[in-house]
Amino acid sequence: MAGKQVKKFEFVVVGGGIAGVTCVEQVASRFPSADVALITAGLQIKAVTNYKQVSKTLEEFDVEERPSGVLEERFPNLTVIHSAVKSLHTHSHCVETADGRVFGYKKLCLCSGARPKLLTQDDPRVLGIRDTDSAQEFQKRLSKAKRIVVVGNGGIGLELVYEVEGCEVIWAVKDKAIGNAFFDAGAAQFLIPALEADKPQAAAPCRRLCYTTEEPGPGAAQTFTAGGTSRGRSSGSVEPGSALGPDWHRGVELRGAERVSRRVSVEYQCEVEKIFSSEELLRSPQRPLNAESEGSWPVYIQLTNGKAVGCDFVVSATGVVPNTEPFLRGNSFAVADDGGLQVDDHMRTSEPDVYAAGDVCTACWEHSPLWQQMRLWTQARQMGWHAGRCVAADVLSEPIELDFCFELFSHVTKFFNHKVVLLGRFNAQGLGSDHELLVRCTKGREYVKVVLSRGRMVGAVLIGETDLEETFENLMLNRMDLTAYGEELLNPDVDIEDYFD
Ligand SMILES: Cc1cc2nc3c(=O)[nH]c(=O)nc-3n(C[C@H](O)[C@H](O)[C@H](O)COP(=O)(O)OP(=O)(O)OC[C@H]3O[C@@H](n4cnc5c(N)ncnc54)[C@H](O)[C@@H]3O)c2cc1C
Ligand SMILES: *[C@@H]1O[C@H](CO)[C@@H](O)[C@H](O)[C@H]1NC(C)=O
Repeated sequence: MAGKQVKKFEFVVVGGGIAGVTCVEQVASRFPSADVALITAGLQIKAVTNYKQVSKTLEEFDVEERPSGVLEERFPNLTVIHSAVKSLHTHSHCVETADGRVFGYKKLCLCSGARPKLLTQDDPRVLGIRDTDSAQEFQKRLSKAKRIVVVGNGGIGLELVYEVEGCEVIWAVKDKAIGNAFFDAGAAQFLIPALEADKPQAAAPCRRLCYTTEEPGPGAAQTFTAGGTSRGRSSGSVEPGSALGPDWHRGVELRGAERVSRRVSVEYQCEVEKIFSSEELLRSPQRPLNAESEGSWPVYIQLTNGKAVGCDFVVSATGVVPNTEPFLRGNSFAVADDGGLQVDDHMRTSEPDVYAAGDVCTACWEHSPLWQQMRLWTQARQMGWHAGRCVAADVLSEPIELDFCFELFSHVTKFFNHKVVLLGRFNAQGLGSDHELLVRCTKGREYVKVVLSRGRMVGAVLIGETDLEETFENLMLNRMDLTAYGEELLNPDVDIEDYFD
């Protein structure tokens, strides 16, 4: 970097999200007298609070935005630099920021996260939700909206359709069932009544050992209305935004312009073909869903199932793209199919002295048969933590093993106001036909699904207060042969723990 003053640091971490902050905390506490820099585009950083280890692999915590000063207070030799990295020069070991400064590093960890994949770029009619700012923008526009279209079947789509009140939601999902990334059709079926009702329904036990769910075909639509024709906010509903997760929940009420509680229609197995204005619609042969509203919506979307629907705006929640661009130019990073920087079990990228963690990276080590990567808070924290330890171990030439948390995938969350625990290959990911499912379901109360492969439990979905997570986690981690137990495994009258104590 000829002609530019270079400030040199021993360690540089890029990104003030969960992964970057956790990584920099690790490094700074391990090397208190080293010069460490955290370079981040935003003013705030994300902090993990109320961390709780629930079981061997399950963890729960909150995510809060904080001013970066709190980090610098804790670590006097840490400098937080608020500017986006615009280029990386791995040969000369330095990064350049948008404000023209150049910073050298000995070890670098990239934690720049991911951004939402948008249906269209720079289209004001399409909103992506990524951070507090875009969540606030969403809330503002929702308050004047009568109908929105949500596109995408991942966690954000799920949370959105459940939380939005006072506005009709048309939810376009490309799969046969809602929440495809987290659930199978059976679990989706279990959750659907929560879209219709505010209050938990009377529990009627039912037990199924195989799936007989009729899946809606292409072009099928289902409509769910909370509280029927109830006016205003019904007393049984959840607090505003509570299930939306740490990024959103504080002070974000997701309320539209209408006096209805919830009204969601799901369009299955379809994607967005085209977005157009009402003028364009008048010139096109397509007929919108509601003939009476023809020409009166600000925006229309054409779905691949042949329907055209009008709305106030579109929310695009169709997955994320890792933020890698500024780093790729001039370097030769190995990039995975999903766009992430490939990392090995030491969180090392293919460039020397450059590590990566969180949403920006793709875990390319040989995974434990019970683990998979999902771009979630928990994994951002675990990867940031592991990356920090690996950087330290490499500097000190100490050996280090892959952390235990990568043995078993585990995630606890809330969908539609139900507690949801996902363990291992909860959707039989990568197992082909080499597996068997056991299901127990009590309508409105709990849904338990176990994935068995060659007599061993390899995954589970637990919805509701099942209290089974620790037992199942142990059964999976111990690779216990369960052939002898068969269906008894899910017999609600048998305390499984008694078997294995
Ligand atoms: C709306 C929404 C809801 C979600 N809900 C959940 C949930 O309920 N549960 C869950 O587990 N996960 C959820 N997720 C996913 C979760 O937020 C991510 O997996 C996690 O935040 C990833 O952390 P990270 O540190 O890798 O990246 P991020 O948190 O995205 O942080 C990236 C950081 O890098 C900075 N940055 C980016 N580019 C540059 C650059 N060029 N130079 C400098 N700095 C840069 C950014 O400013 C930011 O500080 C949700 C995501 C979204 C968008
Ligand atoms: C910061 O680094 C200096 C040396 O560079 C060291 O003397 C000092 O103790 C460090 N501060 C803390 C809080 O460790």
